[in-house]
Amino acid sequence: MARVVLDQVSKTYPGTAGARPAVRGVSLVIEDEEFMVLVGPSGCGKSTLLRLIAGLETNDAGTVSIGGRIVNNVPPKDRDLAMVFQNYALYPHLTVFDNLAFGLKLRKLPRTEIETRVRTVAAQLGLEGVLDRLPKALSGGQRQRVAVGRAIVRQPKVFLFDEPLSNLDAKLRAATRAELIRLHQRLRATMIYVTHDQVEAMTMGDRICVMQDGQIMQVAAPLELYHCPVNLFVAGFIGSPAMNFIPGTVEKSHERFQFIATPAAPAPASQPALFPLSLPLPATLAARATSKVGQPIILGLRPEHLHDTRSLAAPKLGESGGSSEEKPVIETQIEFVEPMGAETHLHLSHGATTLIARVPPALVYFAGQKFLAAPALDHAHLFDAATGATLR
Ligand SMILES: Nc1ncnc2c1ncn2[C@@H]1O[C@H](COP(=O)(O)OP(=O)(O)O)[C@@H](O)[C@H]1O
Ligand SMILES: [Mg+2]
Repeated sequence: MARVVLDQVSKTYPGTAGARPAVRGVSLVIEDEEFMVLVGPSGCGKSTLLRLIAGLETNDAGTVSIGGRIVNNVPPKDRDLAMVFQNYALYPHLTVFDNLAFGLKLRKLPRTEIETRVRTVAAQLGLEGVLDRLPKALSGGQRQRVAVGRAIVRQPKVFLFDEPLSNLDAKLRAATRAELIRLHQRLRATMIYVTHDQVEAMTMGDRICVMQDGQIMQVAAPLELYHCPVNLFVAGFIGSPAMNFIPGTVEKSHERFQFIATPAAPAPASQPALFPLSLPLPATLAARATSKVGQPIILGLRPEHLHDTRSLAAPKLGESGGSSEEKPVIETQIEFVEPMGAETHLHLSHGATTLIARVPPALVYFAGQKFLAAPALDHAHLFDAATGATLR
């Protein structure tokens, strides 16, 4: 069993008193055999948290437990874990074989045992052909594999990865990502993986822990984070292109709730008469906003929830007369177009507000074109502008 439990862990670096602690009151349970990703912007405390688990830093408060044992005072080498760093930290003067064998020799394992373990791992990682080479004679991808191999040969209960793919080019990164997922499936070890890249987080994690400013914002499975972010920060961090945010207020008249956008700046002269943008809120959203009428809120809408009115089904004959429900439309202008192949990203402006829509590539789009965006408000999120918390 290698469950990792952090309980109210805090860390302030010496000499940074007065500044915010690098890690503040973090409580987190990483289950045995789980792949947990720590994600957040640079400087949010991910590496510090990983180093606290590894024992490379000591916490000022709280406890770190591994496999049911409190390890606050246990040195790194006795914690039964292995860490892979971004810069790989290979010994430049040792061959691949000796790099892989280094930790095992330190632990005085029998020579035949070392030989067997190194050759097995080299075969698993496709390194058999380069065992006699020095690190400088390897490609970036091979070096990265040696770093991972050095962790695997030790057969630890917990693997810690600190941005191990950052030095690889995009294609190799995607391939290595897949390799690490397979490795986790094969080894069934606990893995804690740090990255600032939300795509890596979404594709690799059983669960993801989103951090900001030394604190945990949300811990959840990838799609739960995507669909139910607890606050503005998580909503904006997870997802690419990022969620659209429109500041405004909710107003109530005749038992109906309307979202009224607050213009970010005076509308440019070219688009004078667009504001105020007013969107009728569906019942589910209105229910969340009842206590916030008149107060500043932010409406969040993912790019895939801004549709092209042209591609929405036209009302069938005989239906048009019946429904008086008006479908909201946001009148925008296309600033520029990003054709991605399978989809197209449209950068739109509505007055001074900019929006991004993710649409199918079937229709033709060009800069300067008028674009009538139909927001799928059933999928919209509402946030308290003062606290950033999602309204539920
Ligand atoms: N050795 C150190 N001494 C002082 N401050 C540090 C040290 N390492 C990190 N920090 C500070 O702690 C905060 C968290 O850093 P870090 O854990 O490296 O963030 P991340 O890995 O998320 O980029 C940052 O403000 C950083 O400047
Ligand atoms: Mg870091």
